[in-house]
Amino acid sequence: MRKQIVAGNWKMNNDLPQTESLLAELKAKKQTSNAEVMVAPTFTNLHHAFTALKGSKIEVIAQNMHFAANGAYTGEISASMLKSVGVKTVILGHSERREYFNETDEILAKKVDAALANNLRVIFCFGEVLADRKSGNHENVVGSQIKNGLFHLEASAFKNIVLAYEPVWAIGTGETASPEQAQDMHAFIRKTLSNKYGADLANSVSILYGGSVKPNNAQEIFGKPDVDGGLIGGAALNADDFFAIVNAF
Ligand code: PGA
Repeated sequence: MRKQIVAGNWKMNNDLPQTESLLAELKAKKQTSNAEVMVAPTFTNLHHAFTALKGSKIEVIAQNMHFAANGAYTGEISASMLKSVGVKTVILGHSERREYFNETDEILAKKVDAALANNLRVIFCFGEVLADRKSGNHENVVGSQIKNGLFHLEASAFKNIVLAYEPVWAIGTGETASPEQAQDMHAFIRKTLSNKYGADLANSVSILYGGSVKPNNAQEIFGKPDVDGGLIGGAALNADDFFAIVNAF
């Protein structure tokens, strides 16, 4: 059985008091699904988040990291720094990192290697922009993001990889891919994995959907056979909404 996962990506939202109050609300929520639940506060609040969530099953994860082990990279955070505060999972390749911070496939492949070398689990994000969707090029774009970012890995590495398909045109826009569009792409992603690594591996990797997942559409999206959960942005900032999504399975 593939893992079902709902991860909240808080992005650059919530200072320390706001983080503490949202985490207290999340900790008090009742989970009725079997999904693994994760939240990604900003770097400065990671350490506090572990303290605040002690005794809860919610996992604290990171939004990004640098590929180097240490050194003269002002403003950056390494895998070992994340590990030292308790982080076990890191999001890499979010479209905002790709778009605003010029993270290329090549940089992301190095980040993936650094994370795995440090025994961090990776949530690897990718997705096409609207122009690619409109021109019918979305599968080519997604296929090459996956190949360039991940296909240098040995099959055994995939036990620590979660994929997140996030069509850029659906992120933060209120416009979501239809459940059918999500399913079609997730099936394509699984086929791409299968062609390279075989069906057993492809069937074992969780593929999350991200892009305007809300309480009113989560159930239908998560109901699709190749959708194993969601990466949630805006709706993760509200405890009621986030847990409505967590419990949508
Ligand atoms: P959204 O963001 O849910 O606000 O669209 C999703 C994401 O960027 O992970």
